[in-house]
Amino acid sequence: MKNIVLVGFMGTGKTTIGKMVAERSGMRYFSVDSMIEAKEGTTIEKIFAEKGEAYFRALEKETIVSASNEGGAVIDAGGGAVLKGENVSALKSNGIMFCLWAEPEDIYNRTKKFSHRPLLNVADPLARIKELLEKRKPYYEAADHHVNTSEVSVEAACDYIIRVYKGACNG
Ligand code: S3P
Repeated sequence: MKNIVLVGFMGTGKTTIGKMVAERSGMRYFSVDSMIEAKEGTTIEKIFAEKGEAYFRALEKETIVSASNEGGAVIDAGGGAVLKGENVSALKSNGIMFCLWAEPEDIYNRTKKFSHRPLLNVADPLARIKELLEKRKPYYEAADHHVNTSEVSVEAACDYIIRVYKGACNG
């Protein structure tokens, strides 16, 4: 059974939607970030601060490859997972990839109350969000399906993802 893979920028709803899709479809939920934190025994924030982004990206790749080998799971890949071609290939080889999108202002409003995302802990997070979104857009476009969570509710996004996944598995 294929995985449901959720990619997309920070704050687009991967965790909320991923957990709901998993619950509603009786599938297991894996968060690549949580798997990395469990393995390292520390937070993503500390990994970035103490070991740097390159170290995190290497761990992210390893974790994505092992999560991809699961079947029938919902995989919540981190916002930067699509930046490496090998990650996208691994995730797509055993899964259907959905990219969640949202407008920069919505991402800003959803993420501003949290401080655990090192890439957004800067003086002007909205400008950073816009800059990173623009840079990453071509990578996010590699997904099989796209859902704009600025336009649809969490429930509607889940309905769509489950419907497309079931259609693809039965078709
Ligand atoms: C990142 C997104 C984060 C986390 C790390 C880097 C990114 O995951 O993996 O802070 O590069 O966009 P979420 O998208 O789940 O917040």
